[in-house]
Amino acid sequence: MTERQQETEAPPLLETRDLTVEFPNPAGGWTPVVQQVSFTVGQGESVALVGESGSGKTVTSLAVMGLTGVMGGRVAGGSVHFDGRELTALPEREWRGLRGPGMGMIFQQPIRSLNPAFTVGDQIAESVRRHLGFNRKAARTRAIEMLDLVQIPRAAERVDDYPHAFSGGMCQRVMIAMVMACNPRLLIADEPTTALDVTVQERILQLLRELQEQTGVSLLFVSHDLAVVAELCQKVIVMYAGEVAEQGTAADIFLRPRHPYTSGLLAAIPKPGLRSDRRLEAIPGSIPAPGSWPAGCRFHDRCPHREPGRCDSRHPDLTPAGPANEARCLRTSEIELQGVTVA
Ligand SMILES: Nc1ncnc2c1ncn2[C@@H]1O[C@H](COP(=O)(O)OP(=O)(O)OP(=O)(O)O)[C@@H](O)[C@H]1O
Ligand SMILES: [Mg+2]
Repeated sequence: MTERQQETEAPPLLETRDLTVEFPNPAGGWTPVVQQVSFTVGQGESVALVGESGSGKTVTSLAVMGLTGVMGGRVAGGSVHFDGRELTALPEREWRGLRGPGMGMIFQQPIRSLNPAFTVGDQIAESVRRHLGFNRKAARTRAIEMLDLVQIPRAAERVDDYPHAFSGGMCQRVMIAMVMACNPRLLIADEPTTALDVTVQERILQLLRELQEQTGVSLLFVSHDLAVVAELCQKVIVMYAGEVAEQGTAADIFLRPRHPYTSGLLAAIPKPGLRSDRRLEAIPGSIPAPGSWPAGCRFHDRCPHREPGRCDSRHPDLTPAGPANEARCLRTSEIELQGVTVA
Protein backbone atom coordinates (compact mmCIF):
# COMPACT_ATOMS: atom_id res chain seq x y z
CA MET A 1 0.00 0.00 0.00
CA THR A 2 1.39 3.42 -0.84
CA GLU A 3 1.75 6.13 1.74
CA ARG A 4 -0.81 8.21 -0.08
CA GLN A 5 -3.41 5.42 0.15
CA GLN A 6 -2.74 5.06 3.87
CA GLU A 7 -3.22 8.76 4.35
CA THR A 8 -6.61 8.69 2.67
CA GLU A 9 -7.73 5.87 4.98
CA ALA A 10 -6.61 7.32 8.31
CA PRO A 11 -6.38 11.09 8.60
CA PRO A 12 -2.97 12.21 9.87
CA LEU A 13 -2.72 12.99 13.56
CA LEU A 14 -0.90 16.23 12.78
CA GLU A 15 -1.06 18.29 9.63
CA THR A 16 0.55 21.69 9.15
CA ARG A 17 -0.41 23.52 6.01
CA ASP A 18 1.45 26.59 4.73
CA LEU A 19 2.53 27.37 8.28
CA THR A 20 4.27 30.74 8.48
CA VAL A 21 5.86 32.10 11.66
CA GLU A 22 7.24 35.61 12.07
CA PHE A 23 9.30 37.43 14.67
CA PRO A 24 9.59 41.18 15.26
CA ASN A 25 12.55 42.88 13.57
CA PRO A 26 14.48 45.97 14.70
CA ALA A 27 12.76 48.09 12.03
CA GLY A 28 9.45 47.60 13.84
CA GLY A 29 8.03 45.11 11.36
CA TRP A 30 7.81 41.33 11.25
CA THR A 31 10.26 38.97 9.56
CA PRO A 32 9.19 35.51 8.43
CA VAL A 33 11.40 32.84 9.98
CA VAL A 34 9.40 29.80 8.88
CA GLN A 35 7.41 30.04 5.69
CA GLN A 36 4.62 27.93 4.20
CA VAL A 37 5.67 24.73 5.89
CA SER A 38 3.35 21.80 5.16
CA PHE A 39 3.79 18.26 6.44
CA THR A 40 1.90 15.46 8.14
CA VAL A 41 2.57 13.04 10.96
CA GLY A 42 0.38 9.95 10.81
CA GLN A 43 -0.93 7.97 13.78
CA GLY A 44 2.00 6.05 15.24
CA GLU A 45 4.33 7.39 12.58
CA SER A 46 7.85 8.57 13.18
CA VAL A 47 8.78 11.70 11.24
CA ALA A 48 12.08 13.55 11.21
CA LEU A 49 12.52 17.28 10.82
CA VAL A 50 16.11 17.86 9.73
CA GLY A 51 18.29 20.72 8.52
CA GLU A 52 21.30 22.76 9.55
CA SER A 53 21.28 25.04 12.57
CA GLY A 54 18.95 27.99 11.97
CA SER A 55 16.80 26.27 9.33
CA GLY A 56 13.63 26.66 11.42
CA LYS A 57 13.13 23.26 13.03
CA THR A 58 12.58 24.44 16.58
CA VAL A 59 10.40 27.37 15.54
CA THR A 60 8.22 24.93 13.55
CA SER A 61 7.98 22.52 16.52
CA LEU A 62 7.14 25.28 18.98
CA ALA A 63 4.43 26.53 16.61
CA VAL A 64 2.89 23.03 16.64
CA MET A 65 2.95 23.20 20.46
CA GLY A 66 1.22 26.60 20.38
CA LEU A 67 4.25 28.29 21.94
CA THR A 68 5.07 30.87 19.25
CA GLY A 69 3.62 33.70 21.33
CA VAL A 70 5.67 32.73 24.38
CA MET A 71 8.76 33.14 22.19
CA GLY A 72 7.66 36.63 21.11
CA GLY A 73 6.61 35.56 17.62
CA ARG A 74 3.32 35.04 15.83
CA VAL A 75 1.77 32.52 13.47
CA ALA A 76 1.20 34.77 10.46
CA GLY A 77 -0.46 32.24 8.19
CA GLY A 78 -1.41 28.66 7.54
CA SER A 79 -2.91 26.02 9.77
CA VAL A 80 -1.98 23.38 12.32
CA HIS A 81 -4.51 20.59 12.44
CA PHE A 82 -4.18 18.09 15.27
CA ASP A 83 -6.46 15.17 16.03
CA GLY A 84 -9.38 16.79 14.21
CA ARG A 85 -8.90 20.28 15.64
CA GLU A 86 -7.49 23.49 14.23
CA LEU A 87 -4.94 24.84 16.69
CA THR A 88 -3.76 28.18 15.35
CA ALA A 89 -6.67 30.07 16.88
CA LEU A 90 -7.15 27.89 19.97
CA PRO A 91 -7.65 29.85 23.22
CA GLU A 92 -4.86 29.34 25.78
CA ARG A 93 -7.17 27.61 28.29
CA GLU A 94 -7.89 24.87 25.72
CA TRP A 95 -4.17 24.52 25.02
CA ARG A 96 -3.67 23.59 28.66
CA GLY A 97 -5.76 20.45 28.12
CA LEU A 98 -3.91 19.61 24.92
CA ARG A 99 -0.30 19.97 26.05
CA GLY A 100 0.25 16.89 28.16
CA PRO A 101 -2.41 14.41 27.08
CA GLY A 102 -2.37 15.59 23.44
CA MET A 103 1.24 16.37 22.76
CA GLY A 104 4.42 16.78 24.74
CA MET A 105 7.90 17.99 23.92
CA ILE A 106 11.38 17.12 25.10
CA PHE A 107 14.46 19.25 24.53
CA GLN A 108 18.20 19.06 24.01
CA GLN A 109 19.12 20.06 27.56
CA PRO A 110 16.86 17.99 29.83
CA ILE A 111 18.46 19.30 33.00
CA ARG A 112 17.20 22.79 32.15
CA SER A 113 13.62 21.52 31.86
CA LEU A 114 13.73 19.88 35.28
CA ASN A 115 13.36 21.90 38.47
CA PRO A 116 16.45 21.30 40.67
CA ALA A 117 14.42 21.95 43.83
CA PHE A 118 12.04 18.97 43.46
CA THR A 119 12.59 15.24 43.21
CA VAL A 120 12.05 13.73 39.79
CA GLY A 121 9.15 11.74 41.23
CA ASP A 122 7.42 14.89 42.46
CA GLN A 123 7.84 16.50 39.05
CA ILE A 124 6.37 13.57 37.14
CA ALA A 125 3.60 13.23 39.73
CA GLU A 126 2.80 16.95 39.49
CA SER A 127 2.41 16.62 35.74
CA VAL A 128 -0.09 13.74 35.94
CA ARG A 129 -2.00 15.39 38.78
CA ARG A 130 -2.39 18.55 36.78
CA HIS A 131 -3.16 17.01 33.42
CA LEU A 132 -4.92 13.77 34.33
CA GLY A 133 -6.36 14.64 37.76
CA PHE A 134 -4.61 11.77 39.58
CA ASN A 135 -4.55 11.91 43.38
CA ARG A 136 -1.23 12.11 45.22
CA LYS A 137 -0.83 8.36 45.79
CA ALA A 138 -1.84 7.34 42.26
CA ALA A 139 0.46 10.02 40.83
CA ARG A 140 3.44 8.66 42.77
CA THR A 141 2.68 5.13 41.59
CA ARG A 142 2.45 6.44 38.05
CA ALA A 143 5.83 8.22 38.45
CA ILE A 144 7.50 4.95 39.50
CA GLU A 145 5.83 3.07 36.63
CA MET A 146 7.07 5.68 34.18
CA LEU A 147 10.65 5.65 35.48
CA ASP A 148 10.50 1.90 35.08
CA LEU A 149 9.11 2.25 31.56
CA VAL A 150 12.06 4.45 30.53
CA GLN A 151 14.37 1.81 32.02
CA ILE A 152 15.79 3.69 34.97
CA PRO A 153 17.16 0.99 37.29
CA ARG A 154 15.66 0.81 40.81
CA ALA A 155 12.83 3.15 39.83
CA ALA A 156 11.09 2.82 43.23
CA GLU A 157 14.17 4.26 44.94
CA ARG A 158 15.27 6.75 42.32
CA VAL A 159 11.85 8.38 42.28
CA ASP A 160 12.96 10.29 45.40
CA ASP A 161 16.21 11.58 43.89
CA TYR A 162 16.76 15.15 42.73
CA PRO A 163 17.71 15.90 39.09
CA HIS A 164 21.38 16.59 39.93
CA ALA A 165 21.75 12.95 40.93
CA PHE A 166 21.10 11.84 37.34
CA SER A 167 23.53 11.79 34.41
CA GLY A 168 22.62 13.58 31.15
CA GLY A 169 21.26 10.41 29.57
CA MET A 170 19.27 9.53 32.69
CA CYS A 171 17.90 13.10 32.86
CA GLN A 172 16.68 12.72 29.29
CA ARG A 173 14.95 9.47 30.33
CA VAL A 174 13.28 11.35 33.20
CA MET A 175 12.06 14.01 30.76
CA ILE A 176 10.71 11.31 28.45
CA ALA A 177 9.00 9.71 31.47
CA MET A 178 7.45 13.03 32.44
CA VAL A 179 6.06 13.65 28.96
CA MET A 180 4.93 10.05 28.39
CA ALA A 181 3.23 9.93 31.82
CA CYS A 182 0.30 11.86 30.34
CA ASN A 183 -0.12 9.36 27.48
CA PRO A 184 0.36 11.91 24.69
CA ARG A 185 -0.65 11.10 21.12
CA LEU A 186 2.36 13.02 19.77
CA LEU A 187 5.86 13.27 21.20
CA ILE A 188 8.01 16.08 19.81
CA ALA A 189 11.68 15.48 20.53
CA ASP A 190 13.90 18.46 19.72
CA GLU A 191 17.52 17.29 19.39
CA PRO A 192 17.01 14.97 22.39
CA THR A 193 20.35 13.21 21.97
CA THR A 194 22.57 16.00 20.67
CA ALA A 195 24.09 16.78 24.08
CA LEU A 196 24.78 13.12 24.84
CA ASP A 197 27.74 10.98 23.91
CA VAL A 198 27.31 8.40 21.20
CA THR A 199 26.63 5.28 23.27
CA VAL A 200 24.09 7.08 25.47
CA GLN A 201 22.53 8.54 22.33
CA GLU A 202 22.07 5.03 20.90
CA ARG A 203 20.31 3.90 24.06
CA ILE A 204 17.92 6.86 24.03
CA LEU A 205 17.05 6.16 20.38
CA GLN A 206 16.44 2.53 21.25
CA LEU A 207 14.19 3.64 24.12
CA LEU A 208 12.17 5.92 21.82
CA ARG A 209 11.72 3.04 19.36
CA GLU A 210 10.51 0.74 22.13
CA LEU A 211 8.15 3.36 23.56
CA GLN A 212 6.64 3.81 20.12
CA GLU A 213 6.07 0.09 19.79
CA GLN A 214 4.56 -0.17 23.26
CA THR A 215 2.35 2.92 23.23
CA GLY A 216 1.78 3.76 19.54
CA VAL A 217 2.77 7.38 20.18
CA SER A 218 3.55 9.42 17.06
CA LEU A 219 6.98 11.00 16.95
CA LEU A 220 8.20 14.26 15.46
CA PHE A 221 11.95 13.94 15.83
CA VAL A 222 13.98 17.10 15.30
CA SER A 223 17.65 16.73 14.46
CA HIS A 224 20.46 18.26 12.42
CA ASP A 225 21.96 14.78 12.17
CA LEU A 226 20.65 12.64 9.33
CA ALA A 227 22.50 9.57 10.55
CA VAL A 228 20.45 9.58 13.73
CA VAL A 229 17.11 9.87 11.96
CA ALA A 230 18.01 7.03 9.58
CA GLU A 231 17.63 4.63 12.47
CA LEU A 232 14.37 5.95 13.78
CA CYS A 233 12.11 7.61 11.23
CA GLN A 234 9.92 6.48 8.36
CA LYS A 235 9.52 9.91 6.85
CA VAL A 236 11.95 12.82 6.59
CA ILE A 237 11.27 16.53 6.15
CA VAL A 238 14.36 18.51 5.19
CA MET A 239 14.21 22.21 6.06
CA TYR A 240 16.37 24.99 4.65
CA ALA A 241 16.07 28.72 5.32
CA GLY A 242 12.62 28.46 6.88
CA GLU A 243 11.00 26.25 4.27
CA VAL A 244 10.73 22.60 3.33
CA ALA A 245 13.45 21.85 0.78
CA GLU A 246 12.49 18.21 0.35
CA GLN A 247 10.34 15.61 2.00
CA GLY A 248 9.70 11.94 1.45
CA THR A 249 10.04 8.47 2.83
CA ALA A 250 13.29 7.85 4.68
CA ALA A 251 14.33 5.30 2.04
CA ASP A 252 13.87 7.80 -0.79
CA ILE A 253 15.51 10.66 1.07
CA PHE A 254 18.58 8.58 1.89
CA LEU A 255 18.94 6.54 -1.28
CA ARG A 256 17.43 8.83 -3.92
CA PRO A 257 17.55 12.44 -2.68
CA ARG A 258 16.01 14.90 -5.15
CA HIS A 259 17.31 18.18 -3.70
CA PRO A 260 21.02 19.16 -3.81
CA TYR A 261 20.77 20.32 -0.18
CA THR A 262 19.66 16.86 0.97
CA SER A 263 22.45 15.29 -1.03
CA GLY A 264 24.89 17.73 0.60
CA LEU A 265 23.68 16.82 4.08
CA LEU A 266 24.02 13.12 3.27
CA ALA A 267 27.61 13.64 2.08
CA ALA A 268 28.40 15.12 5.49
CA ILE A 269 27.28 12.08 7.49
CA PRO A 270 30.26 10.84 9.50
CA LYS A 271 28.76 7.46 10.30
CA PRO A 272 30.18 3.99 9.79
CA GLY A 273 27.58 1.74 8.19
CA LEU A 274 26.21 4.52 6.05
CA ARG A 275 28.87 5.13 3.44
CA SER A 276 28.82 8.16 1.23
CA ASP A 277 30.39 7.62 -2.17
CA ARG A 278 32.01 11.00 -1.91
CA ARG A 279 34.57 12.22 0.53
CA LEU A 280 33.09 13.55 3.76
CA GLU A 281 32.40 17.22 3.09
CA ALA A 282 30.38 19.93 4.72
CA ILE A 283 28.24 22.07 2.42
CA PRO A 284 30.29 25.20 1.67
CA GLY A 285 28.88 28.52 2.88
CA SER A 286 26.25 29.00 5.53
CA ILE A 287 22.51 29.19 5.85
CA PRO A 288 21.17 32.73 5.24
CA ALA A 289 19.48 34.47 8.17
CA PRO A 290 15.76 35.24 8.08
CA GLY A 291 15.29 38.60 6.39
CA SER A 292 18.23 37.99 4.06
CA TRP A 293 17.04 35.01 2.14
CA PRO A 294 18.32 35.35 -1.44
CA ALA A 295 16.01 35.79 -4.42
CA GLY A 296 15.21 32.66 -6.40
CA CYS A 297 16.06 29.34 -4.75
CA ARG A 298 17.22 30.06 -1.21
CA PHE A 299 19.95 27.46 -1.56
CA HIS A 300 21.27 28.61 -4.93
CA ASP A 301 24.41 30.39 -3.75
CA ARG A 302 25.64 27.19 -2.05
CA CYS A 303 24.43 24.79 -4.69
CA PRO A 304 26.89 22.97 -6.95
CA HIS A 305 24.09 22.47 -9.53
CA ARG A 306 22.85 26.06 -9.76
CA GLU A 307 22.11 27.49 -13.17
CA PRO A 308 22.82 31.23 -13.29
CA GLY A 309 19.93 33.32 -14.54
CA ARG A 310 17.44 30.67 -13.50
CA CYS A 311 18.05 29.39 -9.98
CA ASP A 312 18.86 32.89 -8.72
CA SER A 313 15.68 34.45 -10.09
CA ARG A 314 12.79 32.02 -9.68
CA HIS A 315 11.69 30.71 -6.30
CA PRO A 316 10.84 27.02 -6.78
CA ASP A 317 7.66 25.39 -5.47
CA LEU A 318 7.70 22.09 -3.66
CA THR A 319 6.84 19.64 -6.44
CA PRO A 320 6.66 15.85 -6.79
CA ALA A 321 10.09 14.41 -7.59
CA GLY A 322 10.97 10.75 -7.64
CA PRO A 323 8.68 7.97 -6.40
CA ALA A 324 7.53 9.53 -3.12
CA ASN A 325 9.56 12.69 -2.63
CA GLU A 326 8.68 16.32 -3.05
CA ALA A 327 11.55 18.69 -3.75
CA ARG A 328 11.87 22.45 -4.03
CA CYS A 329 14.37 22.53 -6.87
CA LEU A 330 13.94 23.82 -10.42
CA ARG A 331 16.57 21.41 -11.71
CA THR A 332 15.50 18.27 -9.87
CA SER A 333 14.62 16.28 -12.98
CA GLU A 334 17.79 17.38 -14.81
CA ILE A 335 20.47 16.49 -12.30
CA GLU A 336 21.97 13.32 -10.86
CA LEU A 337 22.21 13.40 -7.09
CA GLN A 338 24.11 11.11 -4.82
CA GLY A 339 22.45 9.32 -1.92
CA VAL A 340 24.11 7.00 0.56
CA THR A 341 24.92 3.36 0.07
CA VAL A 342 24.55 1.02 2.99
CA ALA A 343 27.86 -0.71 3.63
N1 LIG B 1 12.60 34.21 19.58
C1 LIG B 1 13.14 34.49 18.40
N2 LIG B 1 13.19 35.75 17.92
C2 LIG B 1 13.74 36.04 16.74
N3 LIG B 1 14.26 35.10 15.91
C3 LIG B 1 14.23 33.83 16.31
C4 LIG B 1 13.68 33.45 17.57
N4 LIG B 1 13.80 32.11 17.70
C5 LIG B 1 14.41 31.69 16.58
N5 LIG B 1 14.67 32.71 15.74
C6 LIG B 1 15.34 32.62 14.44
O1 LIG B 1 14.64 31.72 13.63
C7 LIG B 1 15.54 30.97 12.82
C8 LIG B 1 15.24 29.50 12.99
O2 LIG B 1 15.56 29.15 14.32
P1 LIG B 1 15.34 27.70 14.91
O3 LIG B 1 15.67 27.79 16.35
O4 LIG B 1 14.01 27.20 14.54
O5 LIG B 1 16.44 26.88 14.13
P2 LIG B 1 16.78 25.34 14.27
O6 LIG B 1 16.62 24.75 12.91
O7 LIG B 1 16.02 24.75 15.38
O8 LIG B 1 18.34 25.39 14.59
P3 LIG B 1 19.23 24.54 15.65
O9 LIG B 1 19.65 23.29 14.91
O10 LIG B 1 20.39 25.43 15.93
O11 LIG B 1 18.40 24.26 16.85
C9 LIG B 1 16.95 31.37 13.25
O12 LIG B 1 17.46 32.27 12.31
C10 LIG B 1 16.73 32.03 14.58
O13 LIG B 1 17.69 33.04 14.78
MG1 LIG C 1 16.55 23.99 17.22
